[in-house]
Amino acid sequence: MSLKGLNLFSSKFTSSRSSITCTYKCGNACFGECDNKSDNPYFGDLMSRRTALKAGGLTVLTVGGGAALAACSPANEAASSSTTTAGSSSASDSSSEHTSGKGLQFEMVEPNEKDELVVPAGYAQSVLIAWGDPVIEGAPEFDVDNQTAAAAEQQFGFNNDFAGLLPHPSDDNRLVYVCSHEYTTEPHMHPGYDADNPTEEQVKIGWANHGLTVLEVSKVGDTGELKREFGPLNRRITATTPMKLVGPVAGSDYVKTSADPEGVTVLGTLNNCAGGVTPWGTILSGEENFDQYFANSASVEDERTKASLDRLGIPEEGSERKWELFDDRFDVAKEPNEVNRFGYVIEIDPMDPESTPIKHTALGRFKHEAGNIHITDDGTVVCYSGDDARFEYLYKFVSSRQMEEGNLAHNMTIMDHGTLYVAVMEGNSPQSEIDGSGELPEDGAFDGEGRWEKLLTVDEDGNAESHVDGFTAEEVAIFTREAADAVGATKMDRPEDVEASPVTGKVYMALTNNKYRGAAEKSKEDVMEYAPVKENKNGLVMEIDDDHGGEAFTWNLILVCGDPEEAYTYFGGFDKEKVSPISCPDNLAFDEHGNLWISTDGNALGSNDGLYALAVEGENRGELKCFLTVPYAAETCGPIVDKHRVLVNVQHPGETDEATVESPSSHWPDGGSAVPRPATAVVWKQDGGEIGVEKA
Ligand code: FEO
Ligand code: CA
Ligand code: CA
Repeated sequence: MSLKGLNLFSSKFTSSRSSITCTYKCGNACFGECDNKSDNPYFGDLMSRRTALKAGGLTVLTVGGGAALAACSPANEAASSSTTTAGSSSASDSSSEHTSGKGLQFEMVEPNEKDELVVPAGYAQSVLIAWGDPVIEGAPEFDVDNQTAAAAEQQFGFNNDFAGLLPHPSDDNRLVYVCSHEYTTEPHMHPGYDADNPTEEQVKIGWANHGLTVLEVSKVGDTGELKREFGPLNRRITATTPMKLVGPVAGSDYVKTSADPEGVTVLGTLNNCAGGVTPWGTILSGEENFDQYFANSASVEDERTKASLDRLGIPEEGSERKWELFDDRFDVAKEPNEVNRFGYVIEIDPMDPESTPIKHTALGRFKHEAGNIHITDDGTVVCYSGDDARFEYLYKFVSSRQMEEGNLAHNMTIMDHGTLYVAVMEGNSPQSEIDGSGELPEDGAFDGEGRWEKLLTVDEDGNAESHVDGFTAEEVAIFTREAADAVGATKMDRPEDVEASPVTGKVYMALTNNKYRGAAEKSKEDVMEYAPVKENKNGLVMEIDDDHGGEAFTWNLILVCGDPEEAYTYFGGFDKEKVSPISCPDNLAFDEHGNLWISTDGNALGSNDGLYALAVEGENRGELKCFLTVPYAAETCGPIVDKHRVLVNVQHPGETDEATVESPSSHWPDGGSAVPRPATAVVWKQDGGEIGVEKA
């Protein structure tokens, strides 16, 4: 049975996401019951337990954890000294004629519902590549009426999300663009699509349209524009590309299948959402809503297995795309372990088209939004990742290995040795002052402290140790949500992208929304200082001052998103008459001035999604300006912001419930009567100047 139509009321009290987006993007995770039914202990209980354990001499110190603890002081010093730098740069801007800080000197784009990419005056735009365009030389041009899986394997995939740009290894006039293809929306891809009876070719086209693209691009003169090129690095990675499982899960009985009795080689990657570029030149990509591709969990009898499948929301019966009809591995009744091979952070080397992508299992298995790295002064590598679902958690991995310049083979093992943690936090204001209205408590801030609870440590020899009672190390790595439940992780309002500022080291987390927060009839989770808005429609952005390699942090909400005319919204203390409305923050990026750029997904304020620049330091802290809006019913993904250009992935343009291939809701980017195509857009300043900087 098709799930379409079961969630028709989803937009009534949440984002503007259409029902079909809920169905195909996240398998209705944003609509139905929450996966997390755990009854986690509160922070205070945890702290008393921790004190008791320490008093009894039972604290487990491991090689990775010990190294991480030793690393924390220098990291903090680095963070605070660079904070001063950012503050002083903002201060010098204030003497210019512009009130906006550097990077924010543009005319803000007003909310709209246009079927176009709207950019500030003085900026130009073009489409770099769109769904179906050839990636591999010789691939056919896009033709919606003549799709084949063989062609799709060589063309740009559907619904591009993450965006990364790297230097080209041999050509100064080129860059290497990498993006992920999160999901497919078959009813909007195939003319006359019958959701109850997909053809085998349609299913295989779906597999080919997932994954990632590596694309050589050339610079156009001295503008920021980029053009797609054919080149030896061009590559498509799909839902069938062989990948290697590494870390504590590799070879475990939980991941052995009839096709792979050794449990080390997986075919493909699924639902790749956001990601990160590593300092050693590879790409991390998060496998997010992978649950929706698997079917028939209701027929699993083993109670523990069933509980684990339910904790991830694996469909009880048929899946929406019905892949299980054409490959048994998507049927958990037939291949119960295949699902345990998805839900990881993968790493690819875009400079070697023959390389085998890696699934790093020491980072845990959940609905990874992304994986973003911060390196402390002593070289400790910290990877942050959110689990994007309601009431899920924030994680970080602290490596015991350090990056070695030029040693790629070593650097690609960094994510396999170290400690995985989950965040536990509490506010510093009395709970009685958190009434769900969003009104600030008496101390003037939604803020507090937190600790990182250890889940798993993998030592230098690859020996893994569990820190969670009742879980082996491999179980922590595979059933990570359940392990995090057991240590009392803090339930958040959908942790999306998490990024550390390259200027200050402070970590920012987008919490996109959570319609069940404080909604007594839907969940028992009350509003909390870190989630202070009842039925949180518009989301939050949290700023975390983290002891990166260590176990303590403080946090505050820099944004309580929404319409600035609404009393409950908060923009870092900035004058709310001078900011753009914002709703449903999702992907994050920094410009070189240290401003945080935020893309949105599902604007609940009734206008198109967009990309916003936020000053986070200095006297402009909290100034938020909309830089662009994406076409009708699209989501803003990517983004990349550098001196020369802003690059966004325009995901699912025209994805409304009433749209079909024959009668689309958007015609972007081709215009006329064309079907909409997800695409990558590049924006640059017409006068050749820097993005967001006005000449004095
Ligand atoms: Fe794929 Fe969390 O958005
Ligand atoms: Ca407070
Ligand atoms: Ca998204």
